[in-house]
Amino acid sequence: MAGTKSPEDAYTAAPFVPEGADLGALREAAAGCHGCPLHRDTTQTVFGAGDPDARVVLVGEQPGDQEDRQGKPFVGPAGRVLDRALGEAGIDPDETYITNAVKHFKFTHVPERGKRRIHKPPSLRELSACGPWLEAELELIEPEVVVALGATAGKALLGSSFRVSKQRGTRLEGNPSGPARGALIVPTIHPSAVLRADDREAVYEGLVADLRVAAEALG
Ligand code: URA
Repeated sequence: MAGTKSPEDAYTAAPFVPEGADLGALREAAAGCHGCPLHRDTTQTVFGAGDPDARVVLVGEQPGDQEDRQGKPFVGPAGRVLDRALGEAGIDPDETYITNAVKHFKFTHVPERGKRRIHKPPSLRELSACGPWLEAELELIEPEVVVALGATAGKALLGSSFRVSKQRGTRLEGNPSGPARGALIVPTIHPSAVLRADDREAVYEGLVADLRVAAEALG
């Protein structure tokens, strides 16, 4: 009905993000975020982790099953692909900060897969609701380079017109009013695309090539 607000219109993490907080305080506050309904079915919030002085920040989509259980980003199979690719591209994973555009695991169940939780992509509304956390992380870390891992991260950083197939492996300016303002953004595929690919080696080499663009930008 025109003029009627659905409860979804109110999705935002903004009231949960404390002003003037450091990363530790942000992480603590994010643990209690109810800015959208995704928190309801998850084990915990998965906040970013890594070097708070990193020159490069990696942004994924959302935690997966393992990350939801362990409370840390990229600790599952996609994280192992990413670590190997970073190393090959000349970026030390220990010198990065890694986070996700959405901090809770979104999943569904399908009857033929029993109790297994199957990843479901976040909606644009959930993505924008979670934006204040990503913005606060990037504001504190002030990285030189932000790597967008896949389409969802690209949309969070560059807007909904972002297309990973067209823009991957390029250097893009962060929008002055966007979360990565002042940084160079290098988009690439999500590392889980390597795991799903028929030709894993070729797709993996593409990921490494894109990460080399980020490594070169760091000098
Ligand atoms: N995929 C993501 O985008 N993030 C994670 O933390 C794990 C898998």
